[in-house]
Amino acid sequence: MRGRLGLGIALIRGVPTHTKYSQVTAILAICVLVALSGCGFRFPSQLGSAAGGNGSTGSGSGNGSGGGGAIGGDPNSPSSYFANTVALSFQAQCTSCHNDPRFGGSGGLTIYSYDKMVAQLLNGSSPDTNSLMSRMRNQIAHTGGDVCSGSSNNSPCFEVKIWWAKEVASRGGVTSSSPIGQITLMTNRGQVLGWAVDIGAQTSPVVINFYIDGPKGTGTLIGSTTANLATPPSGFSGNHGFNFQIPAAYRNGTNHTLFTDAPSLSGGTASVLSKSPYNYLLYSPTTAGTNYFNNTVKNGIGSCLTCHSTFNDYESMYYDHLSLPAKNQGGSATNNLLVIKGNGGNSHGGGNVCGGGAPCTLFQTWWAMEFP
Ligand code: HEC
Ligand code: HEC
Repeated sequence: MRGRLGLGIALIRGVPTHTKYSQVTAILAICVLVALSGCGFRFPSQLGSAAGGNGSTGSGSGNGSGGGGAIGGDPNSPSSYFANTVALSFQAQCTSCHNDPRFGGSGGLTIYSYDKMVAQLLNGSSPDTNSLMSRMRNQIAHTGGDVCSGSSNNSPCFEVKIWWAKEVASRGGVTSSSPIGQITLMTNRGQVLGWAVDIGAQTSPVVINFYIDGPKGTGTLIGSTTANLATPPSGFSGNHGFNFQIPAAYRNGTNHTLFTDAPSLSGGTASVLSKSPYNYLLYSPTTAGTNYFNNTVKNGIGSCLTCHSTFNDYESMYYDHLSLPAKNQGGSATNNLLVIKGNGGNSHGGGNVCGGGAPCTLFQTWWAMEFP
């Protein structure tokens, strides 16, 4: 098995991308045809009841009723999400035992079949309790063990969670659910971007509570936000994005961990977002540094302003130039974008304006005040 894994990966790497995808497409097209032809799958008769994976690994011998529309063609359909995201994540992570279908492998190919997998996905009551997820988490005995390192918020379980929500939403078949969502980015200004959706109440925005250095119950609540923005895109219809600002007190140059808690809007249990807990180290302006910039630096950068009219703006100077790279990533009084570029480094478009002197020397003093 292990040996085959190595070989499998080598083979995948060696295949040109267009070949990979066309073969995958061909295989999935077959799956779609099979699904359309009515071999069908078990429609989620247990949705909303049947808690817990029950050991049934139903292999698709359903009554053929639930076509669920959308199959074939529509790139936003749940079956497309399976083909383009879920199956590819399986192919990236599971080929040591479930041979890669692109090479005509013989072992365990069921996991790449939409028809077979959707039957397991819909056999259960929630994104975390259905036959597919239970197998992947080794709650139904799985020779591959828990393939998601202890949490359904990790890949490839998280992809399966999203697929569950899309599949169920397209069938209008759930009244109660836990929110699904993730943190997609944290900026050096301490903005936390992401999305969350409650498939049991898809038109209402999820509220996310943020805790520092411990989960709900032990951590400090630092604020809440509503997931009702257009960005970042969630892949679900409607606006489910959020943009939360971490308060300056928790951007103080020491390590912190951000936790999330997203209560259900539809009577399900609360959930945590994927990528949280999220470890970070961020900085924010000091009073001394702000004063020094306004009283001294600002008056000494005439030689930059001729080309950089925005260098008067404290926020942008602090976050976009002086803070890069961050102190914990090698930033220093002399190693920051302002001083490097000002002295003609990094092929600065304006050349060597400081020549080792002002205003770069002012930037060095300023840096030391911001990052004591
Ligand atoms: C170490 C080998 C191994 C690895 C790695 C592995 N599996 Fe499996 N898996 C098996 C075997 C063997 C079976 C057949 C049932 C059993 O004995 O567990 C199986 C069965 C399954 C089934 C049930 C299939 C069906 O038709 O009912 C699913 C779903 C599954 N695996 C998902 C995955 C996913 C997803 C991954 C990768 C993230 C993965 N497995 C990685 C060995 C593995
Ligand atoms: C003659 C015009 C000119 C002058 C004067 C000038 N620059 Fe520039 N600077 C440029 C150009 C053009 C670029 C874009 C190309 C590049 O990245 O080097 C640039 C880029 C930069 C960047 C990168 C901006 C970014 O967003 O990545 C920094 C930092 C910078 N300059 C600092 C300075 C400082 C500090 C001074 C004054 C000491 C200065 N520059 C003076 C022309 C100038």
